[in-house]
Amino acid sequence: MDTAEIRRRFVAHFEADGHTVVPSASLLLDDPTLLFVNAGMVPFKPYFLGQERPPYPRAVSVQKCVRTLDIEEVGKTTRHGTFFQMCGNFSFGDYFKPGAIDLAWRLVTGSQESGGLGFDGDKIWVTVLEGDDEAIDLWHSVAGLPHQRIQRRGLLDNYWHMGVPGPGGPCSEIYVDRGPAFGPEGGPIVDEDRFLEIWNLVFMQLYQHPDGTRTELPAQNIDTGSGLERVAAVQQGKRSVFETDIFLPVLEAAAAAAGVDYFGTTATTEQAYAVRAMAEHCRAATLLIGDGVVPSNEGRGYVLRRVIRRAVYFARKIGVREPFTTRLADAAIDKLKGAYPHLEENRDFIRRALQAEEERFLRTITAGSARLEALLVLQKAARRLTRGTQGREHDQPVPGLECFDTTADGRQWLDTLGEDFADVDALKFDGGWLHGTSRGMGRVGAFRMVVPRRDRRWGLQCTSSRAGR
Ligand code: ALA
Repeated sequence: MDTAEIRRRFVAHFEADGHTVVPSASLLLDDPTLLFVNAGMVPFKPYFLGQERPPYPRAVSVQKCVRTLDIEEVGKTTRHGTFFQMCGNFSFGDYFKPGAIDLAWRLVTGSQESGGLGFDGDKIWVTVLEGDDEAIDLWHSVAGLPHQRIQRRGLLDNYWHMGVPGPGGPCSEIYVDRGPAFGPEGGPIVDEDRFLEIWNLVFMQLYQHPDGTRTELPAQNIDTGSGLERVAAVQQGKRSVFETDIFLPVLEAAAAAAGVDYFGTTATTEQAYAVRAMAEHCRAATLLIGDGVVPSNEGRGYVLRRVIRRAVYFARKIGVREPFTTRLADAAIDKLKGAYPHLEENRDFIRRALQAEEERFLRTITAGSARLEALLVLQKAARRLTRGTQGREHDQPVPGLECFDTTADGRQWLDTLGEDFADVDALKFDGGWLHGTSRGMGRVGAFRMVVPRRDRRWGLQCTSSRAGR
């Protein structure tokens, strides 16, 4: 079943049940807590909070989403992407847990002849929040799931919230067992690659205040999210989201640009990783530019810049020297224009913005490769240093780290580029300075740096670096 058909079935299932079909909102909504729409519920937030009266009691949508919190995972795993499409059904004080579980179960396991997705119910596992006995009972009674395939998890995994402040609630996630070829037995609590999450049902009933405390929302709501690309991967028997019909042409364009035989036997792990990252990042950049973002050094534009530069960096790492981003954008637009016609209308603009940023970055790399080398080392060092301080904040502008060179004119940004290209041998923190030595790219280097805290982000200021010592 191709992605367009999965999307159609999802929408039809809920439309037949009285849900209003709401088109995807732009990735850019006016919400001070978010840079980008990162979940299907974002456009409906005022309804959940009781700030606005919902024009309909229940809705269904397939929403464009961007999440950069896991950007370092993109290409490494089979399931992470910065851009994805989230299918969701929403109830604004209308139905609650029993309705949500029943509706989801019927779509997931309903036969394909009757309009369902046709998953084998025996391969479905769910997780619920520890203590949510009501959800456990419902999965048992409504869906007939045996207790051994209902797993309990703590707040970290099974309490969904959109950051501070915002609505949230206990959630229940639906997983498909992809079989022993993908990993060990034991359900999603053991292996989330074999047991792939395809849907998250949030029983949205609490408001999280800025200080972290939670109070009841005006009503009990439902917010669900099902990753379209993930459902497609399982439906189509593909190992990763990158090989599904909606993504494959972009992956193939990336492999062709890199001269990598992706599906053959000769591609190395590093090449395959780089090709996936090139494809994913160019596709995400295409969608971001399509919604009006342009590369810059701040906010949304900076995230876009970072995404494009990562694509270029990964390409260079496996030897690509020619510009390639526009070819990948063309492939992405061709595949997505059916669902998002504005991409075709903006094709020229998207291509021009990508090309300009790619050329700009290539000039920076060429001009500053020695400094860049040192900065890459610093980045890895800082990542270790700050590990643990990152990640909890919701979709911060820069989930990784930034390197900038104060010796260059006007603070030339050299960006963050990944983490696994240089070894840091020794680190010593002394009087606000971090001293270290490293062996980056076959040479021994020494560096020292100061680690200031700017805004809510860690940054690195490179004050001296020497390669070759
Ligand atoms: N809002 C929920 C999520 O993003 C459904 O997972």
